[in-house]
Amino acid sequence: MTYSRITGTGRYLPEKVLTNFDLEKMVDTTDEWIRTRTGVERRHCVAEDQTTSDMCVEAARLALDAAGVAPTDIDMVIVGTTSPDLVFPNVGTIVQHRLGIPACPAVSLEAACTGFIYALSTADKYIRAGDVKRALVLGAECITKLIDWSDRNTCVLFGDGAGAVVLERSDEPGILTTHLGADGQYRDLLYYPVGASKDLAKAGTDEAAIMMTGKEVFKVAVTTLGDVASRALESAGVSPDELDWLVPHQANIRIIQATAKRLNLPMEKVIVTVQDHGNTSAASVPLALDTAVRDGRIKPGQLVLMEAFGGGFTWGSVLMRF
Ligand code: ACO
Repeated sequence: MTYSRITGTGRYLPEKVLTNFDLEKMVDTTDEWIRTRTGVERRHCVAEDQTTSDMCVEAARLALDAAGVAPTDIDMVIVGTTSPDLVFPNVGTIVQHRLGIPACPAVSLEAACTGFIYALSTADKYIRAGDVKRALVLGAECITKLIDWSDRNTCVLFGDGAGAVVLERSDEPGILTTHLGADGQYRDLLYYPVGASKDLAKAGTDEAAIMMTGKEVFKVAVTTLGDVASRALESAGVSPDELDWLVPHQANIRIIQATAKRLNLPMEKVIVTVQDHGNTSAASVPLALDTAVRDGRIKPGQLVLMEAFGGGFTWGSVLMRF
């Protein structure tokens, strides 16, 4: 049987770190409020001239190196992002060109915070169908460029970064199950009001900022993430205690704790980076994955469940043997 397997991971975080104490000087908030309500202590922010593809290239180089794979061996590039450099060409093609990856499918995919899970699931399908041998899959965001820095409801939550994996064809598992979902009826709870074909004139004004009804997002996120995790385990015939690690989307420590509780999973088995990264949207899962791979917690052969939830709403999971 043909599987796809992650053979290398990498991450990039921008140099600039903004702490909760820095934010205390910018808006009416406190370190204590941010930590207790969200779990975030600090986040990385891109420089003004830095782009999503800049971060992708750095993360990808580390992932390729870890996999022992040359750019010329890659035959698909997919980047999950909501903050592409440009409307077009897509970030995938920019990354492909800058890394010297030969002509192949290269694309970016927008599914908000679920972007990486959508991208990974898509690459898995192409590999298992036999069309692709080695895919470079990324989740990356310059989300702090979309924030109103005077809005305390949102500016304390987000951060920037990029995570990358090399996904290769393998006879050994590998990715075991993927589940994706979306429900567009929740559009108004979490959105960015400006796009290429809608209200472009608002770009650069105060109206161009992430809009979020936090409490409602929180409620749907907890229920959906619990459901998506249970569905992944059930479909693979795996019980929660067989899981070695849960790598959840890092939106809020309370959402992560609630999901772990619903699965009856001790927090010792959950990779948590929200304190250091904030919510990096599509980058959050691959950043957390690489963190735990490189510090030696996630080891080859272990059973890992990744899951995410974001604007749309969109959601998804990937269950794999690492
Ligand atoms: N500092 C101090 N006070 C604040 C801040 C802040 N940064 N932000 C909001 N408050 C105030 C509010 O104004 C409100 O005051 P009021 O009672 O006088 O009106 C009070 O704190 C409580 O606000 P709530 O909205 O009830 O706070 P809650 O406990 O729900 O936490 C939060 C807010 C952290 C946004 C939470 O709802 C949340 O995490 N929601 C999930 C949304 C999310 O994660 N979005 C990220 C993108 S989507 C995704 O990735 C899933």
